[in-house]
Amino acid sequence: MNDAALGNIKKNKAIDQYAVVGNPIEHSKSPIIHTAFAKQTNQAMRYTQQLIARGDFKKDVNAFFTQGGKGLNITVPFKEEAFNFATALTQRAQLAGAVNTLSMQADGSILGDTTDGLGLVNDLKKHHFKLRNARVLVLGAGGAVRGVLEPLLAEQPYEVVIANRTLSKAQQLAETFKPYGNISACAFIALTQTQYLTGFDTVINGTSASLNGDLPPVTASIFANKNTTGAYDMMYGATLTPFLEWAQINGVNLAADGLGMLVGQAAESFKLWRGVIPDTESVIRRLRSTP
Ligand code: ATR
Repeated sequence: MNDAALGNIKKNKAIDQYAVVGNPIEHSKSPIIHTAFAKQTNQAMRYTQQLIARGDFKKDVNAFFTQGGKGLNITVPFKEEAFNFATALTQRAQLAGAVNTLSMQADGSILGDTTDGLGLVNDLKKHHFKLRNARVLVLGAGGAVRGVLEPLLAEQPYEVVIANRTLSKAQQLAETFKPYGNISACAFIALTQTQYLTGFDTVINGTSASLNGDLPPVTASIFANKNTTGAYDMMYGATLTPFLEWAQINGVNLAADGLGMLVGQAAESFKLWRGVIPDTESVIRRLRSTP
């Protein structure tokens, strides 16, 4: 964080200061989202974006809070550093092993939380994806997936199957989250085995394959019940993601990308900081119309 940014925090002491930090940060939509939330709910706050050099996380975040900053959102690549920085953690952050929200508490402690999972679950429910008693397939076993498993299992699906290119990572996640529900792991290739051929109710792409315009290597048998299966991509873009395009070509009617999850996780952070729940729909509409 540069001196000018820290100077701004000092100057604007009457207004509560928040920011999103990451590297890179210039494409973050968080300032637009939180500024819209603040306006909607009449909160006296300012939300900016700050680039942090790799290696400077602790120093810069310390400076932000020492200067009176109230809360931060954390994005790539600092979510694990934020987890270590927090002086207290919510249970879901402990399980996720990552923090996307830091919040200065009245007693001076800094609470670390992760709101990505709730953002996802709320968006899935809004789009009427089946979760309770459902067969849920999650593709990918990286940090993004780890962050959403506990809230997904809390919805009491019949089962969650995690499929990943690297089987051992999926197995590790299944082991960690076993106490929270019926969860198992398999390799992508195993999804063609008989036990999975009846298909899934909800399929969530949590791989980062879309970033390179790729598809996870799975067959369309995962959409055996295409009229009722929902396909969700945790990524989003100005156009349909490759995964959702492929799902629709294979007859899936219910498809949604991760823009709603992005705005939803922001709303949960905002609620944590300000104690009010903002309206997400108007903000999602605005972001869709101005990509
Ligand atoms: P993130 O924080 O976005 O989850 P990550 O922790 O690097 O990032 O995890 C990326 C996930 O996408 C992993 O599950 C990765 O599979 P591996 O565990 O086998 O590496 C998956 N992934 C990335 N590119 C992929 C591709 N082209 N096809 C399938 N899976 C892919």
